[in-house]
Amino acid sequence: MRTRMQPEGYDYLTRWRPGDALSAWGLARVIASRSAWREGDWVVGHMPVAERCRLGPGASPDLPPLTLPADTPSPERWLHARGMTGFTAWLAMRLYGRPQAGETVLVSAGAGAVGSLAIQWAHRAGARVIATAGNAARRDWLIDRLGVAAALDHHDSGIASRLADVAPEGIDLSIENVGGDVFEAAIEALVPGGRVVLCGLVGQYNSPEPRRAPRNLSRLTAAGGHLQPFVVPGHEAAHWEGFQREMARWEEVVAPLDVVDGFTGWPRAFCGLFNDDVRGVGKRVVRLR
Ligand SMILES: NC(=O)c1ccc[n+]([C@@H]2O[C@H](COP(=O)([O-])OP(=O)(O)OC[C@H]3O[C@@H](n4cnc5c(N)ncnc54)[C@H](OP(=O)(O)O)[C@@H]3O)[C@@H](O)[C@H]2O)c1
Repeated sequence: MRTRMQPEGYDYLTRWRPGDALSAWGLARVIASRSAWREGDWVVGHMPVAERCRLGPGASPDLPPLTLPADTPSPERWLHARGMTGFTAWLAMRLYGRPQAGETVLVSAGAGAVGSLAIQWAHRAGARVIATAGNAARRDWLIDRLGVAAALDHHDSGIASRLADVAPEGIDLSIENVGGDVFEAAIEALVPGGRVVLCGLVGQYNSPEPRRAPRNLSRLTAAGGHLQPFVVPGHEAAHWEGFQREMARWEEVVAPLDVVDGFTGWPRAFCGLFNDDVRGVGKRVVRLR
């Protein structure tokens, strides 16, 4: 969402201008319908940030916006694990990163929505995971709940040497969510032929120059490394259904929601993603009603 406020770049999503209504991935209930949707059904997908809105069915019944029957168990799973952040993590790991048993994987912003799912995909593949997070409680959660081998602080100016300490053999795969020093440390630690999946650069979104390349990018050439950037838009038609099939079978996935209550909580909930606001783990959502 922050990149939609940038004056330039990130052209894969419509840019917001002052005064535009915000939109977000959401879960809503049908209160009236002139289409095949029935009152009480759930609707999942990108929608205006509003207590009530008018939505239309999508091009395909299997792609977002989706409708779920009124009696769907745990519809909130579609906010995260089976929603857009789940799909992002799935693309990063199942389509692009493809971690292997015995590999060492670095996941930055590991306690966030995408990162925490990416960690679990890596563990399912039998990889060893190192993650970063900005505060001690979130690092504890990464170790105690997700079982990462080490959790590093992205504020640590010596993060490259911390990473070398915990991954002396190097990193086979890095899922990059943050940018800056963390991205540089990952490139420095990459084994020959290692992979970097570039998912996002959240550490730069508040900067007036939001798209700075890591200073050591050329090391990828020397290491024969692979850099795979991706964005979700454009992947839905080919991969959404495969993603849903896999997630439907993964009951035990850990995918907490970090809920802020009320429409007036929106600014704090949103701005808190980019500063060191005390927040929970997983996917931040705002409950409007
Ligand atoms: N490629 C795509 O299509 C796509 C789609 C969705 C999301 N993304 C990207 O995926 C990344 C994670 O998104 P998300 O939805 O999982 O967000 P999220 O749940 O809010 O996680 C982001 C986390 O990044 C960390 N962070 C915030 N500011 C930071 C800073 N200045 N420096 C370092 N870390 C900072 C915070 O955790 P800690 O401070 O605890 O580390 C924050 O919780 C973002 O880069 C986002 O742009 C990409």
